[in-house]
Amino acid sequence: MATDPRFPNLQILDHPLIVHKLSHMRNKVTSTKTFRQLLKEIALLMGYEITRNMPMTTEQIETPICPMSAPVLEGKKAAIVPILRAGLGMADGLLELMPAARVGHIGMYRDPETKRPVEYLRKLPSAGERSFILVDPMLATGYSAAAGVDVLLDHGVEVDRISFMALVAAPEGVQVMLDKHPEIKVYVAGLDEKLNEKAYIVPGLGDAGDRLYGTL
Ligand code: URA
Repeated sequence: MATDPRFPNLQILDHPLIVHKLSHMRNKVTSTKTFRQLLKEIALLMGYEITRNMPMTTEQIETPICPMSAPVLEGKKAAIVPILRAGLGMADGLLELMPAARVGHIGMYRDPETKRPVEYLRKLPSAGERSFILVDPMLATGYSAAAGVDVLLDHGVEVDRISFMALVAAPEGVQVMLDKHPEIKVYVAGLDEKLNEKAYIVPGLGDAGDRLYGTL
């Protein structure tokens, strides 16, 4: 796990398996099928890392040998919340890791004039005592991610129960998250160089939604 002195909110999950798989995803000759599979695999591996500090409690059970106080996850089932549409590909990997998790959806499109996200769909599980993982593969301008956090806060989710997970981030997007939601931990597999004039991440991997669904 790496950090960057510019961004105290950021954790870079640079496990060799994650980084290797990400390099394949970046390659433009990688097929839709492989891209989809790798996104799922990386999300699962990242999920394993970011759930490391989930709150625990104990439950009285009986093994075939004797009673015991057994450690179990505290609170309600975690919620995975993809930002549509590319976030769906990451949610699949997290669901494999946590099959009982609840799944919320946030739909946003970018207003062509203001370039800001406009919400068109919000379907979320109840908030109390539940950890929420907001997912979107590309943290580019950071506006959708920040708006996604606003949606969760507006829904009543406590700020310390929200984390944001992306595959690749641009420094500009991480900075926007730091400015707007400094308490939210941002987890990424790679921190890239910059955004280009079309707000694509450089070197990035192109349009994640198009590559995931073959809509290029
Ligand atoms: N969204 C994408 O899918 N790719 C980028 O590089 C930036 C935003």
